[in-house]
Amino acid sequence: MRLLSAVLLALVSGAVSQNVVQFNVAKGLPGVHVGAAPSLSRRGTYPEELINSISGGGYYVQVQVGTPPQNLTMLLDTGSSDAWVLGHDADLCTDRNLQDLYGMPCTDTYNPSKSSTNKMIKPDGFKIVYLDRGTASGDYISDHFTIGGATLESLQMAYVTKAVRGTGVLGLGFSISERASTKYPNIMDQMADQGHIGCKAYSLYLNDRRTDSGSILFGGIDTDKFIGELQVLPLYTPPGGNYSSFELNFTSVALAYANGTQLSIPTSILDHPAPAVLDSGTTLSYLPDKMTQTIYSALGAIYDPDLRMALIDCAYLTSPASSFHLNFSFSPTSTISVPVWELILDLLPASYPPPPHFTSRKACVFGIQSTAIFSDAGTVKQSNFTLLGDTFLRSAYVVYDLTHYQIGLAQANLNSSASTVVELPHDATSLPSATGVAAQQTTFTPTPTSRALGGGRGGSGEGAVAGRNGASSTARLRSVWEVVGIVAVTGFMVGLGGVLVIL
Ligand SMILES: *[C@@H]1O[C@H](CO)[C@@H](O)[C@H](O)[C@H]1NC(C)=O
Ligand SMILES: *[C@@H]1O[C@H](CO)[C@@H](O)[C@H](O)[C@H]1NC(C)=O
Ligand SMILES: *[C@@H]1O[C@H](CO)[C@@H](O)[C@H](O)[C@H]1NC(C)=O
Ligand SMILES: *[C@@H]1O[C@H](CO)[C@@H](O)[C@H](O)[C@H]1NC(C)=O
Ligand SMILES: *[C@@H]1O[C@H](CO)[C@@H](O)[C@H](O)[C@H]1NC(C)=O
Ligand SMILES: *[C@@H]1O[C@H](CO)[C@@H](O)[C@H](O)[C@H]1NC(C)=O
Ligand SMILES: *[C@@H]1O[C@H](CO)[C@@H](O)[C@H](O)[C@H]1NC(C)=O
Repeated sequence: MRLLSAVLLALVSGAVSQNVVQFNVAKGLPGVHVGAAPSLSRRGTYPEELINSISGGGYYVQVQVGTPPQNLTMLLDTGSSDAWVLGHDADLCTDRNLQDLYGMPCTDTYNPSKSSTNKMIKPDGFKIVYLDRGTASGDYISDHFTIGGATLESLQMAYVTKAVRGTGVLGLGFSISERASTKYPNIMDQMADQGHIGCKAYSLYLNDRRTDSGSILFGGIDTDKFIGELQVLPLYTPPGGNYSSFELNFTSVALAYANGTQLSIPTSILDHPAPAVLDSGTTLSYLPDKMTQTIYSALGAIYDPDLRMALIDCAYLTSPASSFHLNFSFSPTSTISVPVWELILDLLPASYPPPPHFTSRKACVFGIQSTAIFSDAGTVKQSNFTLLGDTFLRSAYVVYDLTHYQIGLAQANLNSSASTVVELPHDATSLPSATGVAAQQTTFTPTPTSRALGGGRGGSGEGAVAGRNGASSTARLRSVWEVVGIVAVTGFMVGLGGVLVIL
């Protein structure tokens, strides 16, 4: 997989206040220099900084590892459970050819010999394969780890020496899904064990796609960041009963047009359950093929075999009359409404030739893709699941509760700069009921998003993908190569723990 060179903003701003730890997560905006967003922290802010780096989309946090602290940028991933840092001697970081192949240098790396508190736990103990076939492997080590101003002593993490992406990953899932043969207390366990938070839970607010940053709050809920009642939902109980990932019972998706017409697609049309994984480490969202077929034919979206993703008419972004939103339901009282501007990504250059049968002039990447591509790519054996990534999560306020095996879910109050933090108590038996603000303060006026991206770097790797389609003309192939980097912008990075069989 190749990734587009880009600029990544890492915004640091941390605070520990009683048993709540909060910091901002910054979004990597491909190819665009972005200014730093204002700090949301209440105490102990850090200077903002801009890091020139590579990003495949996603949300990044800045942490410190070791003594003295080394600054590292990590991808925030609710879909995996290990924290891994990129070693200074990692193959990708020391080999220009690999950097050209994967299209990314390393952002910042960790050098254990420069940390007096580093300890080796298990040489060669770590290897993870993500759904996009990206891999990372190396040793298990431990060292001091600071996030949002809270320092965890001797946190076990992976020290990666073979990688295909230029930042580490901060997995925030259940320890049962760690890649280690012997499970260990991971960052969420240690946050609670070392007394930083009372309840093993965090609230994720990715915020509007057109905004530079969102935030994560460990051990608390911010009632200014959502609208209405926080719905408390039990995690979907997997066969066997051990919770290994953040999955919800998913009941339907409804396509609702601006004129009131709606089309509801219940998951009951499937012949199997398709629980939804809430995964911040995945850029797009994936629904079972039978559901996407209905949505695609209603909206005129077309699958582009060269890009291996569905494309949709960009005009939906600018035409209020035909604009739509998708309502995702998880229970009779829990529905998240995702507006059109979160679902249609204007990432392809104007020169990109739309696929055959595509009638509109300008194609955009659709934020909803089919899980069938995972089976087609041979990454997983089964595709009876739903994966709700950033294109869904940005519209939601999500409380991930590892203590009570619950998810708190509400419609996000976008661009909120106010903050009212409720601490989650140590001795509760459930997430509390909580009420957010009455309504979204601002209203949306559709405007075309025009985000100029640098061209791809021409290339080897993905050429093979395009090449598999014998029918493509040379001109079209060349264009495909040009957008390969852009495709990577929407690339994904998932570690679904025990949910899926990863080949
Ligand atoms: C780490 O980042 C902080 C805050 O941005 C900065 O003050 C410090 O100098 C950095 N440390 C190193 C070793 O770069
Ligand atoms: C949130 O802020 C961004 C950036 O200023 C803006 O483009 C967007 O329209 C805002 N969202 C809402 C819902 O007002
Ligand atoms: C569930 O976890 C328990 C304790 O870790 C283990 O003994 C059991 O085998 C697990 N069950 C399944 C189905 O994985
Ligand atoms: C999921 O939701 C459906 C429809 O409401 C319901 O019939 C089913 O029992 C639920 N499954 C679980 C595991 O909660
Ligand atoms: C998904 O399908 C596979 C085979 O088609 C089956 O073995 C598995 O149990 C299914 N998973 C769920 C959650 O229904
Ligand atoms: C509403 O808009 C959709 C999409 O433009 C269209 O298919 C449908 O016929 C419209 N319904 C009404 C009642 O106008
Ligand atoms: C979709 O959600 C919005 C906001 O919650 C709501 O106003 C609307 O009625 C819902 N539409 C459908 C078809 O469920």
